[in-house]
Amino acid sequence: MEAKITALGTYVPERIVDNHYFESMIETNDEWIVSRTGIHTRRFAAEDEYTSHLCIAAAKNLVETYNVVLDDVDFILVGTVTPDQTMPSMATQIQDYFGIKHAGALDISAACAGFAYGIVLAKGLIAGGTHRKILVFGAETLSKFTDFTDRTSCILFGDGAGVVLVEAAPKGNILGVVTGSQGDCGKELYLTNTHKQINGVDVIVDNKIHQNGRAVFKWAINTVAEQMPILAERSNLKMSDIDWFIPHSANLRIIEALCAQTGFPLEKTLESITLYANTSSASIPLALQRGLREGKVKKGDRLLMIGFGGGLVYAGVVVEWDV
Ligand code: UT7
Repeated sequence: MEAKITALGTYVPERIVDNHYFESMIETNDEWIVSRTGIHTRRFAAEDEYTSHLCIAAAKNLVETYNVVLDDVDFILVGTVTPDQTMPSMATQIQDYFGIKHAGALDISAACAGFAYGIVLAKGLIAGGTHRKILVFGAETLSKFTDFTDRTSCILFGDGAGVVLVEAAPKGNILGVVTGSQGDCGKELYLTNTHKQINGVDVIVDNKIHQNGRAVFKWAINTVAEQMPILAERSNLKMSDIDWFIPHSANLRIIEALCAQTGFPLEKTLESITLYANTSSASIPLALQRGLREGKVKKGDRLLMIGFGGGLVYAGVVVEWDV
């Protein structure tokens, strides 16, 4: 049996926050944020709304849209770096909420690549013959881990969730995958718990996200531009066979730079940065959902998705969208 994505669900919190929100807190303005990042708005979770709630709402959206049942799901994977708590995992809380019996449950710490990593793992579990029906989430409440005194990062983040169902089928639709990491750059983007150092360098221990934006920006462009043709080749395709490129939405300028560097047409990219800002592991499913709702993505389209972020890590998959 092969792995096939058969359904998608998404959710964003109700509260819309525009760029002017930050003008009274830090020295910034709408023009700078739009021109340097492409972000116009983001969603912030309510005070009593956590990552597990966003996951549950996204799964409900999937069930309602595709009329599927979750009772026989046998594995739940959740890409998140902003769980309600480190233990128990988000995956177990989703299992409990939906009353799914005997499902394996696992959270994945791969930052903005968490959703793509989940798809890679689901493909492997199904190809290995041990599992048949897997939920893969990417979900974050980054606003709860944002340092609102740091103007270089606080304007970037938003909250949201996405989920796909991956099922065993005679013919799959996850064509090829890539994964990789560069742990020596861990200190460039982090959210520490206890240790005061990363890569032997002192870091800030305050349960907030910290980033060296320029370093991550450069790494992202070089790494993703290099991996795009490799991923296409592993899927037995050329880049010209790809209908939609869906990189992690970290910054519109990163997406533009990737297209400029590789020659891939910008108009064939999907993004969630302009409306939802950087939602880390949720950004790819949110961009795909926009593409579907706007009628851009059609049955049979080949989607090349690459997540990249804290670790530093990346993961990419090519999916033939026949849902
Ligand atoms: O999701 C995981 C992966 N993350 C990423 O891929 C993020 C990658 N990095 C980025 O998206 C960008 O580096 C940022 C958006 C974080 C920053 O944009 P930048 O164009 O790299 O700006 P910069 O850090 O080079 O700063 C340019 C100037 C600086 O002023 P000086 O030193 O030139 O006087 C900053 O202090 O812009 C200033 N600045 C701001 N000005 C107004 C930084 N943040 C702000 C702000 N408002 N919010």
